Amino acid sequence: MKFFVDTGNLSEIEILQNAGLIDGVTTNPSLVLKVNRPIIELLKDICQITDGPVSAEVVASDYDGMMREGEALASIAPNIVVKLPLTLNGLRACRSFTDRGRMTNVTLCFSANQALLAAKAGATFISPFVGRLDDLNIDGMELISDIRRIYDNYAFKTQILVASVRTPNHIREAALLGADAATVPAATLLNLIDHPLTHKGIEAFDADWKKTGQTIV
Ligand code: E4P
Repeated sequence: MKFFVDTGNLSEIEILQNAGLIDGVTTNPSLVLKVNRPIIELLKDICQITDGPVSAEVVASDYDGMMREGEALASIAPNIVVKLPLTLNGLRACRSFTDRGRMTNVTLCFSANQALLAAKAGATFISPFVGRLDDLNIDGMELISDIRRIYDNYAFKTQILVASVRTPNHIREAALLGADAATVPAATLLNLIDHPLTHKGIEAFDADWKKTGQTIV
């Protein structure tokens, strides 16, 4: 399962990349606003840190605008993934970018039928937003399960990139369901490491090791 970090914060990306915990990065307009930097510069800096897929979102709503913005973003680095909204124009642009050999991420997916259309449009990734569905008391993980089944039924190659992840349980369930990837905020990803019994065990081993009077090196 691939992990992407859902951020525009370079130090977060660097920490996770150096630890070998991430396979790429996803961004969106809200994350760009948070770091308040020019998007092209920001994406260039991110692509210096990782050569894994870096999703960069278009903001145009018309097909020609999406194509112009997507080409500008994709020309930054070969690992840029053009992120397109799940609209008629977004699907059309997805097909065009796929036919040109560009990677695509179709975002803002909230139904299995939308995911089916994105796969038919040749999307590299589909981003179903589980957290935002959970917020409406609709089970986001049921959507992941449905998409997995549909994609497997027809051997679609589109990768399921679980997005809008809010909790460690989202990640566990996504992995159990066979999602290909999840994009996760840095803090949630780091949370996965912690377990009280791990800390307790380290303290006990440290105390006993001191009593041996030994050193390893
Ligand atoms: C990633 O592609 C999405 O933009 C992101 O996961 C959305 O997360 P949010 O619902 O927490 O804003």
